[in-house]
Amino acid sequence: MEIFLGLLLLTFNGYHIVVGSEDFYYDTFPNDFLWGVATSSYQIEGAWNEGGIFIIYIALIKINVLEKNLEVDFYRFSIAWTRIIPDPIAYRTDKNKSLNQPGIDYYNNIINELIKYNIKPLVTLYHWDLPQSLQEHIGGWNSSVIVDYYNDYADAAFKTFGDRVKYWITFNEPWVICWMGHGSAEYAPGIKEPSVTPYRCGHHIIKSHAKAYDTYKQRYKTTQKGIVGITMNSDTMHPKNESNQEHIDAAERGQQFMLGWFAHPIYKDGDYPKVMKDNIGDRLPKFTPQEIALNKGSFDFFGLNHYTTVLAEPTKKEFGFPGDVLVQLTRDPSWTGSGSYWLKVVPWGFRDMLNWIKKEYNNPKVIITENGITDNNGTTNDPHRIYYYRQYINQLLKAVKQDECNVIGYTAWCLLDTFEWNRGFHEKFGLHSTDFSDPTRPRTPKLSAAAYTEIVNRNGFPPVGIITTASSGSSDAQNFIMILLILHNTSEMGNQMRKKLSKEDCQFLEEHTDFKKPHIMDFYKDFMKINPDGNMNLDDFKDFLYGFYKDKSTNLAEHYFRAADKNKSGKINFKEFLMFLNHECTSNPEERLNWMFDLFDIDGNGTIERPEMIDIYKIALDVNEKKSPGDPTPDDIAEKMFECCDKNKDDKLTKEEFITTFMEDPVLFAIFCRNTDEAEDK
Ligand SMILES: *[C@@H]1O[C@H](CO)[C@@H](O)[C@H](O)[C@H]1NC(C)=O
Ligand SMILES: *[C@@H]1O[C@H](CO)[C@@H](O)[C@H](O)[C@H]1NC(C)=O
Ligand SMILES: *[C@@H]1O[C@H](CO)[C@@H](O)[C@H](O)[C@H]1NC(C)=O
Ligand SMILES: *[C@@H]1O[C@H](CO)[C@@H](O)[C@H](O)[C@H]1NC(C)=O
Ligand SMILES: *[C@@H]1O[C@H](CO)[C@@H](O)[C@H](O)[C@H]1NC(C)=O
Ligand SMILES: *[C@@H]1O[C@H](CO)[C@@H](O)[C@H](O)[C@H]1NC(C)=O
Ligand SMILES: *[C@@H]1O[C@H](CO)[C@@H](O)[C@H](O)[C@H]1NC(C)=O
Repeated sequence: MEIFLGLLLLTFNGYHIVVGSEDFYYDTFPNDFLWGVATSSYQIEGAWNEGGIFIIYIALIKINVLEKNLEVDFYRFSIAWTRIIPDPIAYRTDKNKSLNQPGIDYYNNIINELIKYNIKPLVTLYHWDLPQSLQEHIGGWNSSVIVDYYNDYADAAFKTFGDRVKYWITFNEPWVICWMGHGSAEYAPGIKEPSVTPYRCGHHIIKSHAKAYDTYKQRYKTTQKGIVGITMNSDTMHPKNESNQEHIDAAERGQQFMLGWFAHPIYKDGDYPKVMKDNIGDRLPKFTPQEIALNKGSFDFFGLNHYTTVLAEPTKKEFGFPGDVLVQLTRDPSWTGSGSYWLKVVPWGFRDMLNWIKKEYNNPKVIITENGITDNNGTTNDPHRIYYYRQYINQLLKAVKQDECNVIGYTAWCLLDTFEWNRGFHEKFGLHSTDFSDPTRPRTPKLSAAAYTEIVNRNGFPPVGIITTASSGSSDAQNFIMILLILHNTSEMGNQMRKKLSKEDCQFLEEHTDFKKPHIMDFYKDFMKINPDGNMNLDDFKDFLYGFYKDKSTNLAEHYFRAADKNKSGKINFKEFLMFLNHECTSNPEERLNWMFDLFDIDGNGTIERPEMIDIYKIALDVNEKKSPGDPTPDDIAEKMFECCDKNKDDKLTKEEFITTFMEDPVLFAIFCRNTDEAEDK
């Protein structure tokens, strides 16, 4: 009898069904894993016509990164080409006169400050801001001569900053530059010519990258000992219908046209993916054998920007790039959204992407160079962003620890709310909010900045291991207490005197729960930080459950709160809170049954009536996102429960009936009351 699915929601482990497709995974990243935050020059610097005195920007980095408001290993930023070489055409022939000293001073300042604070600079050479003169006079990325101009610039940057910069990214997101800038005209330079120009752009960027990589290798690598890579953006292409071969092929084709376009020449065999050569034909420029040799292996790491997943299916012939890919992309309407139409929250897609890269490119060293989420309101109270980071980083952790994907670093995008290109100031990615109406652009950390810092400090999600029998439930609890601590900005109350847990209460909890004394004391300390007067109210309790249920938590949280509030005071004290946690993960069946009874007995009059039980299951099933057509309905489950427990057939269940039925019949208990972990063991 497969009735227990709905009931799993009554256990802590069952919540995972709600949160994602799989369990949250508790472990830490390798010790040398690198954590960072990112920005780009064009999106934050401003002052395009000034020499290089950007006090605001320096002040910002000081406050937010250097003074350890964010505890990161590295800071990813980009250099604006024109701040170093304002006139790249003159610089081609006179390399001494044209470097811009104030611009160099400015970036030196940033780099030196970072190093002083032991934060590694990770520098992007090209984050979309091409010198205007190169667009106007040579035709920008559509022209093959740009390769030499780019190499001049990269060489100058390596030479000037490479004694201190050890991580270089040649380009950020060539797919966006070439398709959205030179094909669909959504981004600068706004060229709408989808059939030839995007491929020429891509060709020249790959050649520029390979040449700059070679320049570094020949001239700087032995002395500077840095590493060089390129950053590509890619959505995960998932077949819309997983059992339809045409959809599976479309997803693979889409992936090759998005990521393979640039990754295949550099990380695989020096040339374009076969499907691109086949479908594009003569419009795809050809590499010479020398160029192929230079492209192939021109990397020390693989830079990936990843945000979301899309569903792929085949489509009919269109013109240009879309007609070459022949893939229709959509998004599942049930996926959680963000402040951007294209950015849906699909954590499992991140793990799929990393596994695809591992398989396709022979498990290269990967650095996640961007990952993050927008909203439109810029609120500093941003649990939606905390949720995104926790879930995506958890999938990354699985990819690293369980799938052995060779990812060595992670970068949150973005340090602060910025100028979001053609979408202006509306879509906000920041871990810090920026007040654009104030000329000094003051910044305030959002809650997500603290949450990200916690993940960085813990190097992932270390298992708590409080009680061996209850497995992940208590780790979850510990993690969500962490979020509550952040919500309450506990630094403020750090030094206050607090009541100690009384000996009697401690003893009671040791006797009646699975928790050991040191863990009880730890929980108590955190609990009192959040609730200095010793009582937790319903709002805080909802925040606590937020991570399990996302926005649907309200109704269920109210019932949990009611059942946990044993003395009906409208508040939960520490004893009640710990009993609640214990009920959720205890190995003691009687404790669990007691708890379930209180949850079902909505009016608290000592018996469960059928409508009460149906109400609870309705809410539980509503929260469950993994429904399938054959699932039992709340009525079915209640019917079955009453059939088993209602011995005297009076259509109510007393606590005694309820508990004895399950205590006497382990099979029934297993069906109705076990938790997920136990279920999986069988
Ligand atoms: C640039 O300056 C260096 C040293 O200051 C000098 O050796 C070199 O000849 C100059 N090059 C040009 C092209 O003027
Ligand atoms: C890019 O260059 C090619 C070859 O010169 C030319 O055919 C094409 O029209 C150019 N694209 C644009 C948008 O100028
Ligand atoms: C998915 O594809 C399979 C195989 O082509 C087909 O039998 C099935 O009906 C498709 N499912 C949907 C929902 O279209
Ligand atoms: C801000 O936007 C996010 C995501 O779009 C949403 O989840 C959140 O509730 C909003 N917050 C406020 C205060 O409006
Ligand atoms: C958190 O507390 C610190 C230190 O007391 C204070 O400066 C800061 O403004 C508070 N932040 C929020 C979001 O309340
Ligand atoms: C009931 O619990 C509240 C806090 O949860 C506490 O302040 C109050 O003293 C308790 N009342 C009784 C009668 O135990
Ligand atoms: C509890 O309330 C229900 C009606 O809501 C009633 O039928 C039942 O007898 C009550 N139980 C007790 C023990 O009072």
